[in-house]
Amino acid sequence: MKLWGGRFTGSTDSFTDHFHSSISFDSRMYKEDILGSVAHAAMLGKQGIISKADSELIQKTLKEILADIEAGKVTFDEKAEDIHMNVETILIERIGDTGKRLHTGRSRNDQVALDIRMYIKEQITDIKHLIKELMAVLNNIAEKNISTIIPGYTHLQNAQPVTLAHHILAYVEMFKRDHDRLNDTYKRTNVMPLGSGALASTTYPLDRRFVAEQLGFDSITLDSMDGVSDRDFAIELLSALSIIMMHLSRFCEEIIIWNSQQYRFVEMDDAYSTGSSIMPQKKNPDMAELIRGKTGRVYGDLMAMLTVMKGIPLAYNKDMQEDKESVFDAVDTLKMCLPVFTRMVDTMKINKDNMYNAARMGFMNATDAADWLVKQGVPFRDAHAMVGRLVLYCIDNNKNLDELTLDEYKNVSDVFTDEIYDAIRLETCVNTRTVEGGPSEEYIKKLVEQNKKIISKMK
Ligand code: ARG
Repeated sequence: MKLWGGRFTGSTDSFTDHFHSSISFDSRMYKEDILGSVAHAAMLGKQGIISKADSELIQKTLKEILADIEAGKVTFDEKAEDIHMNVETILIERIGDTGKRLHTGRSRNDQVALDIRMYIKEQITDIKHLIKELMAVLNNIAEKNISTIIPGYTHLQNAQPVTLAHHILAYVEMFKRDHDRLNDTYKRTNVMPLGSGALASTTYPLDRRFVAEQLGFDSITLDSMDGVSDRDFAIELLSALSIIMMHLSRFCEEIIIWNSQQYRFVEMDDAYSTGSSIMPQKKNPDMAELIRGKTGRVYGDLMAMLTVMKGIPLAYNKDMQEDKESVFDAVDTLKMCLPVFTRMVDTMKINKDNMYNAARMGFMNATDAADWLVKQGVPFRDAHAMVGRLVLYCIDNNKNLDELTLDEYKNVSDVFTDEIYDAIRLETCVNTRTVEGGPSEEYIKKLVEQNKKIISKMK
């Protein structure tokens, strides 16, 4: 008989059993479920709601069940629906009537809310660690490339020269915020819902704060209906994970472009590339493409969860069982993508010469030529027009700005002197941008050092 079978005379359709059962996926919360039950049983004993002896036997047996699950000795039963009832069924099988006392003052509704919060807390800790590792690798690449000049783009058109360090550190900033967002999500997940019961709490004198303390929660939910029926913390997690994937995906897109024959800024290591079954010459950046592709699936998890929650009245509804697969899928995806990405960038070869040569194309020092004229007293708009004419002349004559003779410069304005050549060197363009946030070696060195400290303190 089902644990809830008392008021039923017929049995559920076997296909229905399969349809509504969640054990095939929520079994991964066995540890959370059991530790939550151990804390609940300890509290029931402490409060005299069940006897000390019963409380202790329940706790001891639950721990044995946990060890048996971990040793692969337990098979779950679809008919017992979910992880909560599977564990309870096994408990009752082992200790009979005493086991039947565990669920006093508790509902699966607050139990599942507890389990998913515990699960998410642990996953956040793991994912934060993976982000930290990625940031350390990126900061290290930046440190080695403080003077590696690359083209900076807007509209994917050559714009102004920057350095590889400056470019990579932009992503370090993004991942700092991602890490922070996970900290925020953790705070709001770290609230203990047990004691909410099915929806209206319970008549037993539970000590909810004791349970929270046992399980390492900061505080307890303050309205039992909210405690069992919101999943906003899971949605927050999914949105934080979606943003991380968006950042990884943009970076992957750049790496794919950088790795192309036309760019050759980087070359992926063989370990992170694949070949073609037909074209013998091919070496494709599949890992980067796959991470870019998997971003869509994490967005899907977020959308699914938002949509599941949008129309359900308070309090618990079975729709909410759908929260788990979205959370699990997104977590699994991040836990694969982050380490693959980290190793992929850590091992890729950086072709500094190709980067530098590309930065010489496309008149990326044109702004600096105009700025030099401004320093000689020419109004910026006039300087802009003069350099525009020079660029046109260069295009017609297939030259770069640094290849023009002084006479050619003077044809446009006699303000020009041979100081212009130093002013438009790519190194000058980069290193005179000493403003905080800019690409100069002077500033980027400081930022790299600052990042080292921040990263080493990150948990
Ligand atoms: N498996 C369910 C879930 O994941 C547990 C809660 C079920 N509660 C209920 N009243 N049917 O949401």
